[in-house]
Amino acid sequence: MSSSVVVVGSFNVDHVWRCESLPAPGATIAGRYSTGPGGKGFNQAVAARRAGAPTTFVCALGDDPGGAMARGLAAQDGFALAAEASTEPTGTGGIYVDSRGRNTIVIGPGANAALSVDFVQAQRALLAGAKVVLAQLESPVETIEAALALARQAGVTTVLNAAPADAPSSIGLLKLADVLTPNETEFAALLGRHVGERVDADDVAALDGASLHALCRKLVGNGTVVVTLGSVGVFVSHAEENLRGDAQPYYRVGAEQVQVLDTTGAGDAFNGALCASIAQDGEAAFIRHVRFANQFAGRSTEKEGAAVAMPHFTPDDAENK
Ligand code: RIB
Repeated sequence: MSSSVVVVGSFNVDHVWRCESLPAPGATIAGRYSTGPGGKGFNQAVAARRAGAPTTFVCALGDDPGGAMARGLAAQDGFALAAEASTEPTGTGGIYVDSRGRNTIVIGPGANAALSVDFVQAQRALLAGAKVVLAQLESPVETIEAALALARQAGVTTVLNAAPADAPSSIGLLKLADVLTPNETEFAALLGRHVGERVDADDVAALDGASLHALCRKLVGNGTVVVTLGSVGVFVSHAEENLRGDAQPYYRVGAEQVQVLDTTGAGDAFNGALCASIAQDGEAAFIRHVRFANQFAGRSTEKEGAAVAMPHFTPDDAENK
């Protein structure tokens, strides 16, 4: 069966400690430990599937219990895996979550760093048959570039979640994205690296719409930029010549009112749901996909964990609410 959403990216076994506050340098504190599936790619694939889109996840896994966990959970959630076998251990994430649901994350890329251009190119038919191809930057940048280039050649909508902020990227890579979805930290990092604009991540949300739109345009020219702003919501910026069915070239969508328990994977929830919505109704105005993704991401923060916190919630459910 062909998949309407193909996600190319990382799987991690997450090790999570929930603490009152995030540990300061030099401090030892106690936290409640748990472990579970994560990795931005895997979280996004779970989100896309639970938002109703037939999904395939392209990744690299070690020959170890983490790899087996990914295979088992994908089967359980009903999406396909195209996994490159790696001699490296499956990726890992170490996560601290504080009492306000905020987190800090360190990843051990392991097998994710071995996802090869050759393997992705062997998935040419899968990528070309999708409606949307979604990628992040926890995998080698040249592999992500190859995946987006193949999708672009086939006329498939490409979405790049430029996360994490310190990952290598290039302006060429950004230009392969029809839709670019950084959070405010990633947005500031991309502007500094590729446009020479120094913007403090903490100031991004407070910028007026016209200024934020102008910065987005410097970054991608033709594509759409969706800057996710956490508790403040989302900012959308389109090229004048491609408003994707919207009435305005830029606008904000406010955050959902939710009881936040854990924001780990909230950006992944947004990305997976956005792509699932686009794949299921490519004719709808872009703002509808953004609103749905916003609702989906809000719900994901009401549960602990990353992949396991993704709600079962589709665009149809949102319509009938
Ligand atoms: O976005 C959250 C994810 O980032 C975690 O699941 C962790 O594994 C890292 O990839």
